[in-house]
Amino acid sequence: MHLACPAFATAVWLAALSLGAQEQPPPPPPPPPPANRPERPAAAPRRTRRPEEPQFDEAAVQRGKDLLVARCGFCHGSNARGGSSGPDLTRSTLVQEDENGKQLGEFLLVGRPEKNMPKFELAPQEVSDLATFLHSTIYQIGNRDLYQILDIVTGDPKAGEAFFQGRGGCVSCHSASGDLKGVGARYEPATLQERMLMPRAGRRRGPPGERGSPPWAEPNAVKATVTLPAGESLTGALVRLTDFDVTIYDPGTRQMRSWLRKDGLPKVVMMDPLQAHVDMLRRWTDDDMRNMTAFLAGLK
Ligand code: HEC
Ligand code: HEC
Repeated sequence: MHLACPAFATAVWLAALSLGAQEQPPPPPPPPPPANRPERPAAAPRRTRRPEEPQFDEAAVQRGKDLLVARCGFCHGSNARGGSSGPDLTRSTLVQEDENGKQLGEFLLVGRPEKNMPKFELAPQEVSDLATFLHSTIYQIGNRDLYQILDIVTGDPKAGEAFFQGRGGCVSCHSASGDLKGVGARYEPATLQERMLMPRAGRRRGPPGERGSPPWAEPNAVKATVTLPAGESLTGALVRLTDFDVTIYDPGTRQMRSWLRKDGLPKVVMMDPLQAHVDMLRRWTDDDMRNMTAFLAGLK
């Protein structure tokens, strides 16, 4: 893996530290950091890849990076994290939802000239390289954040269990001896924590092309109930909702159904089975998270 970016070096180092810690005796303490960069070790030790880690073509990442610096860096920053006049591309929903350059390429062809985002006519290969670079950057950022909060060894499983049964409200949907039985054996702790924090995002993340089914075909897709003027109501996974139409998918019959809408009719009510997790994302404290991960990791 090419370690061009110091932030990523930190991520790898933290990952090596936390993953190493639960499999082997604790690693020796890291060397004292250079005085002017308190949190960044000088060099990242090598580590083994986690099995579920997406593989990004390194050459494509590098080409994408060069292209970004040359063509986009002036506005979006040379690392895509935002610059003098363009937003942080790693936080762009358009980029995050992009599949192998498809959506990015379509966007670039048009740009948003009225908002100072020029249009670009790039070769398909160039778009795909740019996308690979952006996706790998997003992946690294996501994982750095995860590893920084991940400290399984010091979490208190008893406190985690108390939170699970009590304040956390987890038992309204889960049970340690039911659906979450053996969850600690199913996932490595890092993945487990990721699943706990964002059960949906975790599954959709991955290199382009390896994303499985579309989001609405997932068992935990956002549901929509459409109530027709005659009173009949139908529920299915939400595929599309605008002011002008709505489409739902019924996994039982594998049927798509669409209706035109006008003035908010037919009425659509949405329900996200993972809403509790979305809401919780803002409420987790570091301690609760560590303790819960320790508790769940022990459910073997
Ligand atoms: C001259 C400055 C400039 C350059 C050069 C530029 N951009 Fe932008 N870009 C912007 C601005 C400004 C916006 C925000 C537009 C808005 O507010 O809707 C933007 C928005 C975007 C967005 C949409 C973000 C979102 O979610 O709405 C993407 C994707 C993007 N740029 C990609 C690129 C790529 C890739 C390149 C290089 C090939 C590039 N841009 C070059 C200025 C620039
Ligand atoms: C309102 C219901 C609800 C609540 C409350 C809830 N969850 Fe979940 N949780 C879900 C759903 C739905 C899933 C998705 C299950 C799946 O994808 O198989 C899920 C998935 C998970 C997963 C991943 C399981 C797997 O096998 O991938 C973990 C771990 C988890 N939740 C832990 C928790 C914890 C810890 C709490 C309490 C702090 C909690 N959940 C609260 C509904 C809930």
